[in-house]
Amino acid sequence: MKIIVTGGAGFIGSNFVFYERKRHPEDRIICVDSLTYAGNLETLKSVLDDPGFRFVKLDIRDREGVYKLFEEEKPDIVVNFAAESHVDRSIENPTIFLETNIIGTSVLMDACRKYGIGRYHQVSTDEVYGDLPLDRPDLFFHEDTPIHTSSPYSTSKASADLLVGAYHRTYGLPTTISRCSNNYGPYQFPEKLIPLMIANALADKPLPVYGEGLNVRDWLYVEDHCKAIDLIIRKGTVGEIYNIGGHNEMRNIDIVKLICDYLGKPYSLIEHVTDRKGHDQRYAIDPTKIHKELGWLPETKFADGIRKTIQWYLDNKEWWENIVSGEYQNYYKKMYGNREVLDGKEPEA
Ligand code: NAD
Ligand code: DAU
Repeated sequence: MKIIVTGGAGFIGSNFVFYERKRHPEDRIICVDSLTYAGNLETLKSVLDDPGFRFVKLDIRDREGVYKLFEEEKPDIVVNFAAESHVDRSIENPTIFLETNIIGTSVLMDACRKYGIGRYHQVSTDEVYGDLPLDRPDLFFHEDTPIHTSSPYSTSKASADLLVGAYHRTYGLPTTISRCSNNYGPYQFPEKLIPLMIANALADKPLPVYGEGLNVRDWLYVEDHCKAIDLIIRKGTVGEIYNIGGHNEMRNIDIVKLICDYLGKPYSLIEHVTDRKGHDQRYAIDPTKIHKELGWLPETKFADGIRKTIQWYLDNKEWWENIVSGEYQNYYKKMYGNREVLDGKEPEA
């Protein structure tokens, strides 16, 4: 079977490529990625010479390029990870989010219609459901929870989901959608909470916690997400949406303290800074459907996953130090330089 994996040079996409090559070595993976700031060919170095793998530098908005690739490869399945994925960046500049996440998705699905595929899978997010209040721990996101987005990022992802539904209903495109909670693990770009806090703590830099740090996320080890997608594309029902989550809710402040504990760093590094605009309070997924229909359950406990993740960042300093030494410095200044420090200390670049 031939599978096109878009966004495979990013965090979850690369982990999915590794998972598929190991789990289904008989399949061929064609990785499409335009290598934005978040895509890194270095991440894929272990598979670049693998005969069952091909890397193609291509933007999913490039209709001609995408059609040419489909014509050449005639894929059976397309799994779309390619996206602008960082909420804070979407607040700064929504346009590229609309272009990649919505237009890019439509170009891929048009190619699927034109050349015929067995399955188009859209990798979506729990953020399309908006947020839940902190004082209602009994509430969870179900697949039929109404879409109610907060940020330009989540709105672009929700728009793409609606388009996927439309292509299924209108054109009969064989689609599936998965909506997953927050992932953590190897190769996550250090702009996201966990790797950012690890990198800053190791450099004894301030740990910028938005507001009081009481917002709750439902953390899932990236390999468990990859396993879920693998099951959906092979055994899931066409036209369906599957929620993926680990029932592992944690407050941001507790995650940051845990990282300090693991690295032997003092909590005095923690700085409470101006909150994210429109900051979602709590995400919590009900994964009953994927468990009942496909037998999926998360396998990595948070205590093991976070230990493995921190160890990975310790063992692979070169990978992330290359990232944080370049353009990232400007990004960091721009995103964090203007945040007021709520406890009297100045944030460092
Ligand atoms: P990421 O930012 O690490 O990677 C995105 C990848 O897409 C990068 O390699 C980038 O170069 C590529 N890309 C961006 N624009 C492109 C374009 N126009 N054409 C081709 N490639 C392009 O993101 P991630 O965290 O790995 O997320 C992957 C997917 O999973 C996204 O669709 C995201 O919405 C979704 N998701 C992420 C999480 C999470 O916790 N990270 C949770 C649920 C869902
Ligand atoms: O829920 C799935 C989503 O999870 C994905 O769709 C997104 O692509 C992914 O980026 C992630 O979004 P979040 O906004 O939840 O992740 P982020 O790592 O940016 O932030 C996690 C929490 O930590 C959030 O409440 C904001 C807070 N935070 C984040 C950063 C970067 C801080 O307090 N300080 C920070 O410096």
